[in-house]
Amino acid sequence: MLVHFVKAVQRMFCQTRLFKNLKSVLRYGHTIRKPSPMDRNEAWHLLNLHIKNPANIRHALAVEALMRSLAEKFGADAGQWGIAGLLHDMDWEETTDQPERHTEVAAEILRAQGCDDAIIRAIRAHNYLGTARPHELMDKALYSTEEMTGLVTAAVMVLPSRKIADLSVRSIMKKFKEKSFARGVSRAIINETPEMLGLSVEELAEITLHAMQGVHEQLGI
Ligand SMILES: [Fe+2]
Repeated sequence: MLVHFVKAVQRMFCQTRLFKNLKSVLRYGHTIRKPSPMDRNEAWHLLNLHIKNPANIRHALAVEALMRSLAEKFGADAGQWGIAGLLHDMDWEETTDQPERHTEVAAEILRAQGCDDAIIRAIRAHNYLGTARPHELMDKALYSTEEMTGLVTAAVMVLPSRKIADLSVRSIMKKFKEKSFARGVSRAIINETPEMLGLSVEELAEITLHAMQGVHEQLGI
């Protein structure tokens, strides 16, 4: 009898916000938030809690800028697409040794924060090693275009000035075709852009260049 009573009390406690918050603090270092649209400041704060390498922060900012530009092009919600871009690799440093877990850890954290399902879905779908596949336009944009920011960054690094203002679309396209340049950038994924978004690779290069030029100070290039 007493055992049943103790178990019932234990079950009730586990359902309380206090318990869930304690669990979240122990696991992620912050409490659970009430479901509400995440704003940019909250997303930025969360990113900095989980990402420490400045290069990874710059990558997040580049993809955010690109996603915002793509949303504007497609008449979508730039705030929402931007947050998906900013947070897409937020678990990168925690999942380095488990690439198949990449984005699943982020999804868990974001669910606990009450983040928009559409953002979580797009983030999960951008890991081609994971189980989620890009379905909606925002998913496809994040999946097929984020690699282009890596190519643009690498192309800036080999310029004498190391300034993105001096980079041209022509030069990006030349580097895109040079397979030995920035080998880590998947040309195969970028080549899916025309089918996924109806944009040519050259159009994507142009949008990416302008988007990244718009945040060049934050990117330090
Ligand atoms: Fe990324």
